[in-house]
This record gives sequence, structure tokens and C-alpha cells, in this order.
Amino acid sequence: MPLRGKLQLPGDKSISHRALVLAALAEGTSCFKNLSSGLDVRSTLHCLRSLGVEIKLHQTLAHVKGVGLWGLKSPTRALDCGNSGTTLRFLAGLLSHSSFQSTLIGDESLSKRPMRRVADPLRAMGANWELRDENFAPILIKPSRLQGTSLRLDIPSAQVKSALLLASLGIEGQNRLFGQLQSRDHTERLLAHLGAKIKIESDQISLEGGHRLEAQTLFIPGDLSSASFWITAATLIPGSELLLEDVSLNPSRLHFIHTLRKMGAWIEILEQSSAIEPFGTIRIRSAQLQACSIGPEDIPALIDEIPALAMAFTQAHGLSEVTGAAELRYKESNRLQAIALNLESMGVRVDRSENGFRIQGPQPLQGSRIQTFGDHRIAMAFTIASLIAKGPTYLDNTRCVAVSYPQFFEDLEQLTS
Ligand code: S3P
Repeated sequence: MPLRGKLQLPGDKSISHRALVLAALAEGTSCFKNLSSGLDVRSTLHCLRSLGVEIKLHQTLAHVKGVGLWGLKSPTRALDCGNSGTTLRFLAGLLSHSSFQSTLIGDESLSKRPMRRVADPLRAMGANWELRDENFAPILIKPSRLQGTSLRLDIPSAQVKSALLLASLGIEGQNRLFGQLQSRDHTERLLAHLGAKIKIESDQISLEGGHRLEAQTLFIPGDLSSASFWITAATLIPGSELLLEDVSLNPSRLHFIHTLRKMGAWIEILEQSSAIEPFGTIRIRSAQLQACSIGPEDIPALIDEIPALAMAFTQAHGLSEVTGAAELRYKESNRLQAIALNLESMGVRVDRSENGFRIQGPQPLQGSRIQTFGDHRIAMAFTIASLIAKGPTYLDNTRCVAVSYPQFFEDLEQLTS
């Protein structure tokens, strides 16, 4: 059945986390419209409240009363980050320069995700951390004073980069980051917007600590990673035509659209705004796709869209390939494994490689039983697969979509009815 109609997506998850955290550290009350309704952002919100920040939430409208750079209060119990790597890594950065001790915990999936990537550079700044098995949550953060230094990022991770920038807000002097900086840039944009002393150059970012941030009002555009599932579905299902309104068009997030267009997708970007976080309307019509190769240099800008892209690969003509995607093993699930295993269960031949996979398309999909591993993006990607599969598909967990997109199934119903 074709997908038709228009949608307004939940606010971008990445921007929502950053908006809340930075507003908590600002002076004055910030106001955010269209805050993500996902559980991950709720985790950030609850943790900030436990740290003494007053946040009022009416549906997706949030008012945050900032406490300033030094105003967070000692929490009375462990800060529970739920399933959210962004919450945990951001708070870990931020709390590294606090005057009190805190413990950060997460659910089973988050407790298996690597944290030394944040601990090592923060320790080089003077942070005092204890990690389970030197790499995992729970994390105990003891009070310390951080020093400005030069830090090289070896992994192109926006979470790590942002954790270091948040930690840098509390240092004396200046911090300089260099190396793998090409990941999404929402933290840099928001910091500059709030008045931080940040200098962004092509090969380095410098941030001077101790400068006050000013409260702001911001519209949070729709989440392009959530949109990627609809963009894929509308491309693959003949006769579809969709309009996605007020979606984020931040250039560091557009690689998915560029890639699908390169494969032959019909995607038009209409009415762009030039706000600090740009957004606009996207129109998609169904189209025939050609195969495509994704290499290590593409991965940082496509990191959350590979599950959706893999579904497109099954229907593209020719040999599509993903290489250099080891980072996908460290997400909410091992996504390389989850994608290959579930596609195989739908009858697709997937040629697994060490850090990627190859698919010769087009191949028909058979309905099957999908193991989501509790991963929201795996659940949504294979829901899209089920729309083009022959026979019924069952997901072992549909609730996990609420991590980023609670109304995903309602929106599906609206677009297919
Ligand atoms: C995010 C960064 C990405 C992404 C995650 C959100 C962010 O993780 O996978 O969903 O908001 O900074 P990494 O930067 O660790 O790759």
C-alpha cells in the first residue's frame, strides 16, 4: 500500500538533548518548542531535574530555568540514563568538573556500551572517574578541577566531542579539540548561539571555559533520522508521495538524503529556513534505486541511518556495500549483526564482511519474525521492510520505538490509511 500524506516529525533527538543540557547551564529561562517526545530525551530531562534544574514541560513545549555553570546540585541517588548513550556521555562530561560526587547508570543495553572513549580524554583533563571493568557504566565521578589542554579525537563521535565540550565549559583557560571532528555539529552551533567563547575551524575547535551562557528560545526541527524510515518507505513503495514538514536540514545530517538521491531517489527540499538549526519541508515520491557503496568516510554522517539504508539496498539494482562501519556494533544493539540476521530471516542473501555487509539487489523479502534486540532503529527499519515483504512480519518488541519516536506506529497508520 502506498504511503501518502504529510507528517510533522518529533523534535530532533540530538538537538533536544543539547538544548536541555545547555539551557540548564545558562542564566535565565530558555524555551524550546517541539522538544523530542522520545524516552531518551526524557532521561536527560529527569537527570537534570535530579541535579536541581527546574524544567516545565507541556507536551512538547519546555521551559528550562538555568542554574548557571556552577549551580547544579548534588543528586540524592544515582542518575539513571535509561537507554540513552547521549544522556550518559553528556552528563559524564558535564559532571566531571563538579564539586560533588555522582553515579551514572543505564539499562542493560547502555551498560554494555563503551565509555572509555569518554573517560580517557576527560582523565587527560583531570577528571576522576571509576568505571566498571574500566569501560562500562555504572560510572562514579568524583569532584575534580579540570585543566584546559589539547585533545585529539580518534573516533568521529559527536557524543564524545560534545562530552568534551561540555566538560570544557568548567575549565580555567582554553581547551582545543582536533582530529576526528566531522560528526554532527549541533553542540557547536548551540554553544555559539548561547554566547560561549567557541571558535570552530576546519581542523580544530577551541573553547574557553568559565563564560556565562544566555538563555534562548529555539524551535527544534523534526528529526531527520526518524524521517529516514518514511523517506525509505515512500521511495520503495510504488505510488507513494509524502510531505515531511519542518524537518532538520542541518548540513551535518543530510548525507542520507544525498546518498539516496545518488541512488536515484526522488527527494525535493522545499522552503528552507536559515535558523541556527535550519529546517524545511521535504517531498518524496517513489523511485527505482541503483546500488551504492558506503565507505568509512561516509559513516559518521550516516551513523543512525544505516538500518534504513540497508532496507533500500535490498531493492536497489546492483551490488550495494557498507564498509568501515565498526561503530555500528556499539549502538543500542550490534546493528551490523541485527541488520544481517533479520534480513537473512526475511530471505535476503547478505554477504557479511568484518565491518559491513554487501547486498545484491533487488531481492524479494518474505515476512518473518524479527529480533529487534530492543533497538528502536532496528524495530523501525524492519517495520519498513515488512511493508514491502510478502506475508506477515512480527517484531519481538514494538515498544522500543518510544526511545526516539513514540508515535511511530500511529504515524504509519495515518500514512497508509
Ligand atoms: C548522537 C551521536 C551519534 C548517534 C546518536 C546520537 C548525538 O552517536 O549515533 O544516536 O546526539 O550526539 P556517536 O556520536 O557516538 O556516533
